[in-house]
Amino acid sequence: MITHIEACRQFQLDTAHASYVLTVVDEGYLAHVYWGKKLPVADMTDLLRIDENPFVPSKNERDRSSFFDTTPLEYPCAGIGDYREAAFDFVDAHGCRAGDLRYVSHRIYDGKPTLEGLPHTFATDAEPAETLEILLQDQPTGMTVLLSYTIFPQLDAVIRSAQVRNDGPAAYMLNRALSCSVDLENECSEMITLYGSWARERQLDRLPIRHGKQRVDSLRGESSHQYSPFFALVAPQTTEQSGSAYGFTLIYSGNFFAQAEMTQHGVLRAQIGINPDDFAWELQPGATFQTPEAVLVYSEEGLGGMSRCFHQLFHKHLIRSVWKDRSRPVLINNWEATYFNFDLEKLKGIADCAAKLGIELFVLDDGWFGHRDSDNCSLGDWSPDERKLPGGLKPLTDHITGLGMKFGLWFEPEMVSPDSDLYRAHPDWAIQIPGRPMTQCRGQYVLDFSRAEVRDAIWQQMKQLLDTVPISYIKWDMNRQLTEVGSAALPAHRQKELWHRYVLGVYALQEKLVTNYPDLLLENCSGGGARFDAGMLYYSPQIWSSDDTDAKERLRIQYGTSLFLPPSAMGAHVSVCPNHATGRNTPFETRGYVAMNGTFGYELDVTQLSAEDAAQIPDQIRRYHAWGHLVRNGLQYRLGNPFAPSACAAQMQDGWDAWIYVAEDRSEALFTFIQMTADPNLRSRRIRLAGLDPERHYTYAWNANTITRSGAYLMQCGIRIQNLWGDMKGCQIHLTAVQ
Ligand code: GLA
Repeated sequence: MITHIEACRQFQLDTAHASYVLTVVDEGYLAHVYWGKKLPVADMTDLLRIDENPFVPSKNERDRSSFFDTTPLEYPCAGIGDYREAAFDFVDAHGCRAGDLRYVSHRIYDGKPTLEGLPHTFATDAEPAETLEILLQDQPTGMTVLLSYTIFPQLDAVIRSAQVRNDGPAAYMLNRALSCSVDLENECSEMITLYGSWARERQLDRLPIRHGKQRVDSLRGESSHQYSPFFALVAPQTTEQSGSAYGFTLIYSGNFFAQAEMTQHGVLRAQIGINPDDFAWELQPGATFQTPEAVLVYSEEGLGGMSRCFHQLFHKHLIRSVWKDRSRPVLINNWEATYFNFDLEKLKGIADCAAKLGIELFVLDDGWFGHRDSDNCSLGDWSPDERKLPGGLKPLTDHITGLGMKFGLWFEPEMVSPDSDLYRAHPDWAIQIPGRPMTQCRGQYVLDFSRAEVRDAIWQQMKQLLDTVPISYIKWDMNRQLTEVGSAALPAHRQKELWHRYVLGVYALQEKLVTNYPDLLLENCSGGGARFDAGMLYYSPQIWSSDDTDAKERLRIQYGTSLFLPPSAMGAHVSVCPNHATGRNTPFETRGYVAMNGTFGYELDVTQLSAEDAAQIPDQIRRYHAWGHLVRNGLQYRLGNPFAPSACAAQMQDGWDAWIYVAEDRSEALFTFIQMTADPNLRSRRIRLAGLDPERHYTYAWNANTITRSGAYLMQCGIRIQNLWGDMKGCQIHLTAVQ
C-alpha cells in the first residue's frame, strides 16, 4: 500500500513486513526518511533535520551547502554542494556540471510501468503492483527526472528506476543516471559483495564498512565473473536466519556500479546503477533516457529472508519463459565429453547411450559450425561443418528425435572470429577504435550489436537453422569482454553510448528469439557464469552458473549465486571425474545431489562411464522430476555455509553444507546434506531443518526406515546424519507432511 500524507508531504510504501518512507522537504527537495521494519502510517519527518538551522535552506542562505551535504536525498545531484556520490549528473549547454532537482508532481497508481527495450518486473493478476512516480526538475536547464517506485504487497521489495527527460531548449550530455540512491541511518555496518573469476564465480566477501566509498563494479561490457551486480548491507549480528539485511541488485547485464559510502555523519549512501565511468548519453530536446530497474529488498529474517524475497520476486515477476514452472528436460551437453573433437558417429553414440538412461535433451555445444576445430575461427559463420556433420544438422537431429530426445544447440551470436567469412565481408561490424590495434580475447572480436543490420545478419542465420531443424533449446554464450569500445555507427561525441547500446542490442535480439520461438528453452551463458544477472532472467529461465562443474566448488558458487538469484535458474551438471577444472574426485551420487540444487543435467561422455555410475542416472532423473518443483517453486533455506570461516568450527559448522527447499504451503520439503570434508571421530551431526510447519508432522525415509517427526522437532533438534564415510559424501531426504 502506498500512502501520501498531504500535510507533511510524505510518501509511505508498505509491504508485508517493511516500510519505505520519503518526503518532500523545504524548497521541494526529495529526502529519504526511513526504510526497514514495517511501521504504522504516521508523520515521520521529525527524523530529518528540517526544523534545525542550518538545515533549512529557505531560512539560511549563507549555510545552504550544509543542507545539501547532509540531507538524505533520494536522487542526489552533483555540483551544488552535495559532495557525496551523486546519482545524477549531466553537462549543460555551457559545458558545466550542476543539477538541482526539486519536486514538481507525483502520481500513485495500480500497476507497474513497462520499460521499453529493457528487462523489467511485471505485475500479475494474482499479485498486482502499486506504483509511485515522482517528477523532479532542474529548473535552470529544464531537465526532469521521473523517479518510479513499485511494490508488490506480499514481497518486501521496492523496484526503483529513473527516467531522465530533456525538457530544455538545448542538447545536454547525461553523464550518470543511477537507478537508485538511498541514505540509510541504521545498524548496518557490514557489506556483503560477490567476487570471482572464470570458473570461480560469486565467492563471498563480508567486511565492515569503513568511512569512504566501497564499491564493486564492471567496466567489461557484461556483469562479469569478477563482481556481481549485488550487495547487501547487514548488521554485525545478522545471520542466515535473523537480523536486518538490505539487498540491492540491478536488472541489467552490462557495466554496473554498486557502492556504499559511509559519510562524515555516519549515514550510509547505498547506490546501484549503470556504471557512470565511460558512460555518456546525448539527450536532444524532448529525448528521454530510461535507467534499468534496481531491486531493493529488506528482510528482518537475515540473509535467508533476503534471498527468498529476491527468488520469489524474480520467479513471479521477472522470468517470463513458458518453462519457468515446467519440469525442464534433463539434458546432456557434449562440451566436457568431446570439446571440439567429435563427428556424427561419436555424437550418435553418446545420444544412444543417454537415451537408454532416460536423458531427454541432447545439447550440441561449440564446434559444430564453419571449420571450427578449435576456438581460433568461424564465429559468425553459423552453418554446420560438413566435415564433422555430413549433410548438416539434419542427420543428427533425425537420429536424436528418433530416440525420443529433444535437440539443443550452442551459439555465440555476439562474436566474430578474425578467420570467418562474416569478418572478411564486414570488418567494420566488429567493435573497434579506428587506427588502434584490436585486442583479441579467445581469438575473437565482439560484434557491434548496437547496429540493427549486424543483429539482423546474425538473426537470419539463426532463424534459418531454427526453421529447418527441430531445435528445442539454445545455449547463448558470450566468451569475451569488450575492448577498444568504438562503433563505426556513432559520431565521436556519442561513442560513450556504445556500452549501453550494445546491451540494448543483446536484449533486442534475445527478445526477438523468445517472442518468435516462445516454446524455445533459452539458457544464457558467458564463459561460465559471467552474465548471471537479473537482466538475463527476463529472457532465459536458466543460466549456466560456471565452467567449474566440480561438486565441491559448485557448493560455493551456487551458495553465492543463491544470495540474490533463484536456484531454479542455476544451470548445474553432473560431469566426469577427475573434474576438468580441479582434478578432484567426488562420488557420482554427490555430484547428482549438488547438480539437483539447480537446473539438472549431465555434461560427460556417458559411453565411458562405469556401469556403477551409469546405473545411478535413471534414479537421479526420477528424483529430479519428482522433486524438482520444490527447487523451482519452493522456498530455499540455506542450512550450512560452504564459506564457513574456521571461527565457526567450534559450532561444527565447518566442513559441511546443507539446504532445504520447502513448498510454499509447507506440505513437503527436500533436504540435502553434503559432508565436504570427513572429520575423524566426528561422524554424527544433528542438522536442524528450517521453514517447516512446527505444528505438522513430516515423514521421511532414512536407512530403510520410515521416520515421522513434528516440524518443531525437526527444526529444533534436527535430523541426525551419521556414518558418511569420506569427503564429499551426502544424502538427500524428501519429507512429506502427514495429512
Ligand atoms: C564457454 C561455456 C562452456 C562452453 C564453451 C564452448 O566457456 O561456458 O560451457 O560452451 O564456452 O566454447
